[in-house]
Amino acid sequence: MKQENLKALLNSLTLQEKIGQLIQLSGDFFAADQLAVGPQKKLGINQEIVQQVGSVLNIVGAEKTKSIQETYLGNSRHKIPLLFMADIIYGYRTIFPIPLGLGATWNPALVEKAYSVLAKESSAAGAHVTFAPMVDLVRDARWGRCLESTGEDAFLNAKFSTAMVNGIQGDFSPEESLASCVKHFAAYGAGEGGREYNTVDMSERRLREDYLPAYQAAVDAGAKLVMTSFNTYDGVPVTGNEFLLKDILRTEWGFEGVIISDYAAIQELIAHGVAADDREATKLAIEATTDIDMKTACYAKQLEPLVNQGEISEKLIDEAVWRVLQLKNDLGLFENPYRSASKKREDHELLTPKNRELARKVTSEALVLLQNKNDLLPLTPNKDKILLVGPYSDNPELIGLWAVHGKKEDTITIKRGFETYLNSEFLSQTAGCDLLSDYQFLGEFGATKDVISQIQMSDAEKVRQLEKATALAKDADVIVFAMGEHTLQSGEAGSRTDITLPAIQKEFLAELTALGKKTVLVVISGRPLVLTEESEKMDAIIQAWFPGTEGGHAIADIIFGKTNPSGRLSMSFPYTVGQLPLYYNEFTTGRPLDSKTHSGRFVSKYIDSPNEALFPFGFGLSFSKVEYTNLSLSSAELTENKPLEASIVVENKANRATTETVQLYIQDLVGSVVRPVKELKAFQKVHLSANSQQTVSFTITKDMLRYYTKSMKFDVETGDFNLYIGGNSRDVIRAEFILK
Ligand code: NOJ
Repeated sequence: MKQENLKALLNSLTLQEKIGQLIQLSGDFFAADQLAVGPQKKLGINQEIVQQVGSVLNIVGAEKTKSIQETYLGNSRHKIPLLFMADIIYGYRTIFPIPLGLGATWNPALVEKAYSVLAKESSAAGAHVTFAPMVDLVRDARWGRCLESTGEDAFLNAKFSTAMVNGIQGDFSPEESLASCVKHFAAYGAGEGGREYNTVDMSERRLREDYLPAYQAAVDAGAKLVMTSFNTYDGVPVTGNEFLLKDILRTEWGFEGVIISDYAAIQELIAHGVAADDREATKLAIEATTDIDMKTACYAKQLEPLVNQGEISEKLIDEAVWRVLQLKNDLGLFENPYRSASKKREDHELLTPKNRELARKVTSEALVLLQNKNDLLPLTPNKDKILLVGPYSDNPELIGLWAVHGKKEDTITIKRGFETYLNSEFLSQTAGCDLLSDYQFLGEFGATKDVISQIQMSDAEKVRQLEKATALAKDADVIVFAMGEHTLQSGEAGSRTDITLPAIQKEFLAELTALGKKTVLVVISGRPLVLTEESEKMDAIIQAWFPGTEGGHAIADIIFGKTNPSGRLSMSFPYTVGQLPLYYNEFTTGRPLDSKTHSGRFVSKYIDSPNEALFPFGFGLSFSKVEYTNLSLSSAELTENKPLEASIVVENKANRATTETVQLYIQDLVGSVVRPVKELKAFQKVHLSANSQQTVSFTITKDMLRYYTKSMKFDVETGDFNLYIGGNSRDVIRAEFILK
């Protein structure tokens, strides 16, 4: 629709009709054939409001969305189509690894392809907007939503943020794209103690340097929407935070798209204690330019009286509605309200062999080989007798919690993956033990006692499983344990203070490892777990995240050597939960561990744990040994007009090709404020054929050295710098240069 027609449309709306555009209700208001009286009653809104709302949450499926749209338009005076928004987080029907796994690919270009598959599949199913990417920086593995983030580093997260938005929005053609809603703005990942929905309080410098870049990257890439986060920042909940929403997002970054509150976040301003009632909450949110109220009756009931009584200007409403109408127009909904929803496309374009192939590739790059003592892996197929055991050994839950529209039955389980390599006489499999000893917490999610007792192994079954597994283990040469968290132990509202493997699995592991066989642990989890004990006991460990639809294939591809693992952690794995928050780019402190002036006790350290990570940021093994030598700089000085070249020789000492992620870090040695011990500034994934070497070069520019100085200017300061290159954030070679 032409801009002048859109303007005319806006002008023709009554105040109530305009407000309708700013309300988002969930699917239960629309899906029923009859009037959805139940949910309406709960929110206390009438059918007239329902018929005017601008968007709907989490309804997908071509036929369903089309029929809802048709009925809705039939009742609508102005025929403004409904927007369908949904949580399509890491795949629609073809499920990719969870974003923390995608982060471990260190391959934004590949992840962009995954997100265009996500967009293509879900556009066929009638979605218009996805609430992705989630780009919250994470440093505390206690937080369940680490699962949805690409990790702890601002630079790497920003790369993935751009890639995901580009993948989702593409060229915005109906068949290929969705609108992207980046979330949760801002700093939602920094909740105190890793506790869900908890307070966030940090300096503006830290906010800008570490937490904001990934959101800004999404906005710069053209993301059409931004979702506010549940947390406070500097005492003000984000949904009513003018500093974040107006000053930074709208004014500094020039964001003209739609801001949507997270689920009920407007009303939660009351519980936060910054609004006395719905009316005050509404006022705070609309004044901060939160355009859409997700799932409460605040806007529906309070905006009109606020305008009529002169407490807010109608102009605020007009501006918000204009942004919503623009989005609908950008999506082409006025011309075609069904966009690309099509049953035929759903039948032909979901989970195609090509999509599965891409998922297998992405997953292969996401898996991280954490340990491989005596080069146990890869195993030669049909040589050793293998027992595959553990609650995830033949479990379709590999797609994880947030794969809302994925289907478990599409999953290639680990057992199925193994079967493609092994003749039956070389493979035995059994669960061996339950995932958890107690499933009572499922009651919180509505499971009845009967359901819980069906899920939980009976005592007799536990005994039988242990006996069976022990007998099979005695007969095996190698035991592969597939273990990890329950899907509900991570994800939203999945904060934990104990992030080890569940006790029941640990006990089982101890029983079987006592047999002295060779052991491999495949870890399924939505966060870094504490794997300290397992790293002592196991020969090999593969971090497999929730690996998605093709998980079983990709895991088997690595175990049997078809794939040489190349995943690298994008989040540190702690020795103990007491180290959290933990991240590689910390400040040095006045008494660092290697302090020259203080020794022994009085340095910054724990007396019962190392400071550093068990498996650091950037870490991951392959089956090849790669050596880094000959780091050289083109000059000892960097100036405005003369960038510096850093090069290093990487040599693959092995008989098989490998992919190495060469990482470059920089440390500003003296700044007007303290600077991190190192910061990732560039990386390259390089392919090295067997027994080959390559020189890898990076250009260092002055811009890469910018930061928020003492006067809060994003600037550079002259002086000495360390430059590090290596295969992870810990094992690096150092050089130095001066910025003149
Ligand atoms: C709450 C979650 O925080 C957010 O990530 C999600 O997109 C919304 N609910 C909508 O389901």
